[in-house]
This record gives sequence, structure tokens and C-alpha cells, in this order.
Amino acid sequence: MTTRDKVLSALRGAGRSGVSGEALAREIGVSRVAVAKHVTALKSSGYRIEAVAGLGYRLLEAPDLPLPAEVAPLLSSERWMRLEGGAETSSTNDDCKALARAGAPEGTVVLASRQTAGRGRLGRHWASPEGGVYVSCLLRPAAPVAEVPPLALVVALGVARGLRVLGADAHVKWPNDVVTPSGKLAGVLLETAAESDRVEWVVAGFGVNVRPGLEVVPGAAYLEELAGRGMLLAEVAAACLDGVAQTYDSFVVEGFRAMRAPYSELMASGGGAATVKDATGRVLGAGAILGVDDDGRLLLETATGTQAFSSGEVTLKD
Ligand code: BTN
Repeated sequence: MTTRDKVLSALRGAGRSGVSGEALAREIGVSRVAVAKHVTALKSSGYRIEAVAGLGYRLLEAPDLPLPAEVAPLLSSERWMRLEGGAETSSTNDDCKALARAGAPEGTVVLASRQTAGRGRLGRHWASPEGGVYVSCLLRPAAPVAEVPPLALVVALGVARGLRVLGADAHVKWPNDVVTPSGKLAGVLLETAAESDRVEWVVAGFGVNVRPGLEVVPGAAYLEELAGRGMLLAEVAAACLDGVAQTYDSFVVEGFRAMRAPYSELMASGGGAATVKDATGRVLGAGAILGVDDDGRLLLETATGTQAFSSGEVTLKD
């Protein structure tokens, strides 16, 4: 825990009665000047802290941002051991990749409440206005590169589970979209670095549409509208991170095989018809969705029998 987090947690503990600068300094083991500096920094991150003469500091309100200090206490999983960011950035995937290259450990997470250059699959832009949650997780699976594509499904399933816990009827759309009947709720983007066929790191980024902001995102569904209640962005980030921790933990032990049934069960348009296209729009196959196989490949019942498709750079059209 950083000194700033300690100041925040002491302020939380003091509740409405507040706590003096002197008592805070003593409790944390820093000077009163240092406490004042951290209080100023917390205020500039959006915390409303009142300074009352003769009494000290009182926390009035925490910001509705997925800040590490807000998300960490809501996490059940211990997988995510280092949380960064929380406010605006260009792309959490880029920030997380920089940390990965600098040797950050598996379990590092970068959070944001807005991205100025969010990226989606197939080189697309990912609109990232306020009202969403943008998260990237650093994974270092001891796996060959060939096992990375199913990891995108593992992350999408984890995010979908987290969103279901919060009250959304979320499903997965192969390979890594999280959808509802009213539109796309979340997307997943995996970026990987490998050395002689062994994975060095995977940055698994996901963005969730929580509430509509000023920017209208075509085709988007919003979590608060689906759940029928308001929620804190930190709550959304924590639920999804717990969901991803759960599916990734199983993947690490048992591989994608363990996810095959739960993923297939949560597939949108299960039993419905779908067309698989490559990045140029060329149709690779069409038929009824049967589910996924042990490697996360999409199984379609086509006119010529069952066909399997790898996720790589293909898209599924309902
Ligand atoms: C998609 O559906 O095309 C994938 C969207 C992935 C967006 C997330 S938001 C957090 C992370 N940072 C990015 O720049 N992209 C991913």
C-alpha cells in the first residue's frame, strides 16, 4: 500500500468524525507536511476532503472513477496485485505494454475512465468516452504462442461473467465480444510478445460500456440500463477483474478445455446461423453455431459437415 492509499484508508476509517493531521501522521509514520501533500493530491484526483480547523480532515466523497484505491478493496481475487491509472490515458493497453516491457509482474493492471486513443480488434478505433471502464491486465502464461488465441475467449468469458454478476444478461460472441440482445456491452483486445515461440507477455484489454456519455457509440449497449440501476465504475472494474481472474486461473491449470462447456453455454445465438469472414470480408464459412472445440475454435454445422474456425483475424456475422 502506498502512503497515499494509507492516508485514504485512514480517512475512510475515521468516517464522519474525521481525523487530525497529527493523528494521521502518527498512524502512518510520516510528517504532517507529508500528510497535507497527500491530501492535496487526493483532492486533485477527485476526492472531496474537508479540512476543519481544530478537527482535521474529513472524507466527504470519493470520485466515481476506477482508481486503484477504489477498485482494490472491492476485489475478491488476489491475482491482481498491482493496480495503476484510473483517470484518463491514451490507451490502457499501451500503458500496460510499456509496463510489461519494463518487466512488471503478471497480475499488473492498468485502469482508465477515458481513453483518447483506445484501440479495438482488427486495427479499429475503440470509442472510450467517460461513462465506460477501460482495463488492461498483464498476463505471463507459461504457454506456447499457439495457445494464445483461446486466451481471448477466456478473457471475454470472464468479463461476461463479471457483468452477469452485476445484473446484465451478457453473452459471449465468438471470439471475444460480450453482447446482449440490445447491442455490444464489452470488447476484448489481446496483444502478445513472444520469444522463440514462448509467450513473454499478453496484455488483455477490455472496455465496458457502463452508461451513455456525450459521445454516442453506435451499436453499444449500456450496463446501467441493462441492470436497471446506477453503479460505480470501480464496482464494474472489480467485478470484471474477478471474472477474468476466475477464468484465467482455470486456463492456467487446465488449458482452454475447462472453458469449452461454459463458453459454449454462454454463446449468443447458440444454435443460430452465422457466417465467418476474414479481415477483407471474404466469406470463409456459414452454418449453424454448434459451440467451440477444446482449442477455442468455432464449430459450425455447414452444408458440407462440421467445420472449425480459428479466431485469428476472423469475424462472426449473425
Ligand atoms: C474490440 O471489441 O474491438 C476490442 C475493444 C477493446 C478495447 C479495450 S479498452 C481497454 C484496452 N485499451 C485499448 O486501447 N483497447 C482495449
